[in-house]
Amino acid sequence: MGSLGVAIGVSWGMSNASMEIRLRHAEMHIHKPAEPATATVVKNEACTAGKKAAGFVRHIELDLSGTGLAGKCIPGQSLGILAPGVDGNGRPHKPRLYSLASPTRGEDGHGAVHALTVKRLIDENPADNSLFLGVASNYLCGLGVGSKVQVSGPSGKRFVLPVDAGAHDFVFIATGTGIAPFRGMLMDLFAGGYKGEITLIMGSPYATDLLYHGQLAQLAQEHANFHYRTAISREANAPHGKMYVQDRLAAEWPVLESQFASGRALVYICGIAGMELGVFQQLARALGPGVLEQYLELDPEAAGNIDGWTRAMIHRQVRPTRRVFLEVYA
Ligand code: A2P
Repeated sequence: MGSLGVAIGVSWGMSNASMEIRLRHAEMHIHKPAEPATATVVKNEACTAGKKAAGFVRHIELDLSGTGLAGKCIPGQSLGILAPGVDGNGRPHKPRLYSLASPTRGEDGHGAVHALTVKRLIDENPADNSLFLGVASNYLCGLGVGSKVQVSGPSGKRFVLPVDAGAHDFVFIATGTGIAPFRGMLMDLFAGGYKGEITLIMGSPYATDLLYHGQLAQLAQEHANFHYRTAISREANAPHGKMYVQDRLAAEWPVLESQFASGRALVYICGIAGMELGVFQQLARALGPGVLEQYLELDPEAAGNIDGWTRAMIHRQVRPTRRVFLEVYA
């Protein structure tokens, strides 16, 4: 773990919970989009669990050697990918951000090779039934080993691990490619001899679409303090039926409750926007007075009607504290 930290003061005004969470130092914007780095693809492989997964998701490793990015990226940060060509207005494509999936040491052990987890965006345009293909995702997923890619970044300094990781337990909640930063964080934590408790809840439509499933299951076998749990939304999860990540959070509550009550738990949420609402509702239902305030600040009307919350209330009447880290995308 890096020793430098961005100090973020956290004070709840609670008797047991006045504490500061210092985050790892994150380098920012070393290569701006106007002066991108040139990376080389060294691996591009499917990272879905089943051969017949519903979506196409690939683990793409970029060699950043010789650029300003080598050795400067940490989990929780993103890289910008500049797809070649121009957009509908004739302008170069803007960078598309992808979370890093690698630990600080990279895939090569030296921080020079970092991976992205990329899902092909394939959709239909409802206006005319035409096929819509995401520009950057399909460009990246189609690249062969040896291809050159223009990269900017890194960006993001708030969705990173704390300096003092050993003082915390971690509840990582992911849907889809939101798993990427957690893969890197888990590797960083275990490389640093982490001894606390980590629960990773991973949401996927089908079991075939779980990402890095073999690696994560293996990690859970090797580390008794790592609890890897899945939430499959379109198949039965015996004995629970179909589940979203917030349902899995509820099912795991008997184990997690003490981690929250002790004040050790930090919650990291990464994936589709919309998951925040269900996860926050679940936290609000499960956490009692004195503990809830450490994770969510609720306006009085929100506190009285948890089931009636809407997405528009998140960040307005329902505000996550500094113990809740969010990286969500539309
Ligand atoms: P579903 O699409 O079955 O409703 P992916 O990115 O691979 O599509 O996976 C996203 C996962 O998150 C799916 O299992 C999806 O379920 C689930 N999901 C969709 N909306 C929400 C939500 N509001 N809260 C939690 N999970 C959600």
